Amino acid sequence: MSLLRNLLLAGVAAASLSGMAYAANDMSPEAIAERTKPVGSVYTAADLEGIVDTAAGNSGEPAAPRSGEAVYTAACAACHATGAAGAPIKGDADAWGPRVAQGRDTLLSHALNGFNAMPPRGACGNCSDEEITNAVDYMLEAL
Ligand code: HEC
Repeated sequence: MSLLRNLLLAGVAAASLSGMAYAANDMSPEAIAERTKPVGSVYTAADLEGIVDTAAGNSGEPAAPRSGEAVYTAACAACHATGAAGAPIKGDADAWGPRVAQGRDTLLSHALNGFNAMPPRGACGNCSDEEITNAVDYMLEAL
C-alpha cells in the first residue's frame, strides 16, 4: 500500500516538475518577448492617464476641476478685481446686490454665455462649465 502511494506521489511530483520546466522553456515568440521585455516599458497609471488625455485631445487641461479661487485668479481677476470694463468688483456688495437678486442660475448663465461687456466664460478658453461655476461661487462667497 505505501509503495503504491509513494509511486503515485512520485508520479504527481514528476508531472508538476515537467510542467514547470515546460513553462520556463516556452520558446514561443510571445513567451520570449514577455520574459525579455525591458523593465522600463511598464506603464504606470499616471502614464496611461496622460496617454488617454492626449488621445482625447485634452492635454493641457487638468483632470480635476480647478478651484473657484484658482479660476478667478487666472481668468476673472483682471476685470473683477479692478472694475475694468465696468465689471462688478469681487466683495463689493453694492455692485453685486442687484445681480445676486437675479438668482444664481442667471449669474451662471451670464458667466457661461456672456453678458454685455462680460465675455463668455470670462474669455477662458480652457475653463470647463464646472470651473466657471466654481469661480462664480467663489465671488459670491466673498459678499
Ligand atoms: C474682460 C473683463 C471680464 C473678465 C475677464 C470677466 N468678467 Fe465677468 N463681468 C465683466 C463685466 C464688464 C460685467 C458686467 C456686465 C454688465 O452687467 O453689463 C461682468 C459681470 C459678471 C457677472 C455678473 C453677471 C450678471 O448677470 O450680473 C458674473 C457672474 C461674472 N461676470 C463672472 C465672471 C467669471 C466667473 C469670470 C472668470 C471666469 C469673469 N466674469 C471674467 C467683465 C469681465
